[in-house]
Amino acid sequence: MTSPDDPRTVRRDWSQPWPGIWPWGDTPDSDILDEVTGPHSEPRPRPTATPAGVYGRWLAGKDNRAHERVIAETMAEIAPFQRAGVTANRDWLATQIHDLVTQQQIRQLIDVGCGYPLPGANLHEIAHRTAPDARTVYVDNDEVVLAHARALMTDDASATVVIDGDARYPDHLFDTLEATGHLDLTRPVALIFAAVLHLLTPDDDPARVVTACANRLAPGSYLLISHVALPDEDDPRRQPTLDAAALYSRDVMPFTLRTYQDIAALFGPFTLLDPPGLATPPTGTGSTLLAGTGRLS
Ligand SMILES: C[S@@+](CC[C@H](N)C(=O)[O-])C[C@H]1O[C@@H](n2cnc3c(N)ncnc32)[C@H](O)[C@@H]1O
Repeated sequence: MTSPDDPRTVRRDWSQPWPGIWPWGDTPDSDILDEVTGPHSEPRPRPTATPAGVYGRWLAGKDNRAHERVIAETMAEIAPFQRAGVTANRDWLATQIHDLVTQQQIRQLIDVGCGYPLPGANLHEIAHRTAPDARTVYVDNDEVVLAHARALMTDDASATVVIDGDARYPDHLFDTLEATGHLDLTRPVALIFAAVLHLLTPDDDPARVVTACANRLAPGSYLLISHVALPDEDDPRRQPTLDAAALYSRDVMPFTLRTYQDIAALFGPFTLLDPPGLATPPTGTGSTLLAGTGRLS
């Protein structure tokens, strides 16, 4: 696992200039910010970019702001091969949810770090195509995401619930979830951490998070993880991936790249299904996104 001092976790540090790529320079009141957020006379902090907004840009979603689009596009210039991983992540999720519902009779989903709604491709909609009785709990810690999710993903109040929860505090999250009475945790669920655990730092200890969640789940539950991986040292994608993660860490939130082994270890008490194990989804070839499904015995 990475340690808190590991350079793969790059923390926000405004004293460090971005070497020539960042389009609006290093001061918070430069001209491009005027373009992005409107004229202003006083220096002010950079606008807050959110993970959901930057990611939404890559998915061609509409829920993103101008500075989030600039960050997304700049990252895509630095590491263009990673773009395929974003849509591949959603393709993989759709396939996994369909298979778990149709082949394993999973009827309960917990989607942690759900992001903005994607009408037609939301996980509860995928489940409902073959299992109208499926129930979903969407979880996020971004209040704007929560507002959108409540407006657009709770069309049938008996099928979906949206809760304010933070992956870093799994016991509190599950207490909140249980208080809704929406799911029966004595029965198996699919717990989903898609494109979110790389937003947990080594200090946050995502392996601890997964184990704490497992302690609240019934045997036969499934865990889905997708995570951007750190390429090997001789892989030409390594430096661009580090550079893109550094930009994101500086201007959105800390982004932790983990190796294949680090990500596999996050499954903890869940046994990775083999095949396919932990792999880049077929439509994400070229990206370093790794995705896998585990089962709790
Ligand atoms: C990159 S988006 C992924 C969205 C969706 N899971 C997917 O794969 O399409 C990450 C989401 O995780 C949320 N998030 C980040 N840190 C979180 C945390 N500690 N707890 C809960 N949600 C978190 C963000 O607000 C954002 O909506």
